[in-house]
Amino acid sequence: MPDYENVKLSLNDHILTLTIDRPDSMNALNFLTIEEIRGAIGEALIDEQVKAIIITGSGEKAFVAGADINEIRELNEVNSRKFAENGQEVFGQIENSEKPVIAAVNGYALGGGCELAMACHIRVATENAMFGQPEVKLGIIPGYGGTQRLTQLVGKGKAMELLMTGEMISAKEALDTGLVNYVVARDELLNKVNEILSKILKQAPKAVANVVDCVNAVFDNEANGYQTEANNFMNCCRTEDFKEGTSAFLEKREPVFKGE
Ligand code: COA
Repeated sequence: MPDYENVKLSLNDHILTLTIDRPDSMNALNFLTIEEIRGAIGEALIDEQVKAIIITGSGEKAFVAGADINEIRELNEVNSRKFAENGQEVFGQIENSEKPVIAAVNGYALGGGCELAMACHIRVATENAMFGQPEVKLGIIPGYGGTQRLTQLVGKGKAMELLMTGEMISAKEALDTGLVNYVVARDELLNKVNEILSKILKQAPKAVANVVDCVNAVFDNEANGYQTEANNFMNCCRTEDFKEGTSAFLEKREPVFKGE
């Protein structure tokens, strides 16, 4: 695994943990960090040793407190569209990952941090986590998919409120609105994430990848979700794991999936 400056990687039991590590600035995403996330996720997607990914932040206070404001203050009419499109591409790579990606939100998830968590398939937060899209307070709007994914997760009315006021919400409120899947004590965070991943990793990998593709198709204006589902259903029926799953059930034994 390559060495990165602001992203730390560790691989345990085929689960890659990607930690955003800029503690002096609450793990804010500068350009380098976005590119390092791109590199690390790109590598993880093709590395057969990696079967799932956890994204978290270093330290006790922040997951990621947004894009780095020192850098975004230099944005202008000429470079800002590219900036947004670049971040959208990197977060799209996470959202469309065939391998499960869970955000372990260990503190502030603001701006680009909330957007990063929302790009993951599932979110587990600590009780002290805070969520928000405070960009309007800086005179901008989210640019890494936040207006879209927040609306998808919490619905139009709540998304409008959070985006228009820039106010933060607690982990408990995030749970109530559907922004996160679970809220746990700090020392339970990785246990909970690993518990979810262990359930997913017992399933047929291609079936899991096809689920991701179908669910994402709901939000893709160019896709017909029902057609995607029918196609992906057919793809699953072609796999060895389908034969194994059905045989194992009928033979009253646990399936052994090979991802084939
Ligand atoms: N970009 C750059 N630096 C950031 C940052 C960001 N998004 N968020 C925090 N930091 C830096 C602070 O400037 C501060 O640096 P300093 O120690 O050199 O002064 C350090 O991280 C600690 O932050 P601080 O504000 O002192 O901590 P806090 O506990 O009082 O508040 C936050 C924490 C997260 C609520 C607050 O830092 C904040 O609101 N950050 C900006 C969030 C934001 O607007 N994100 C969207 C950006 S588009």
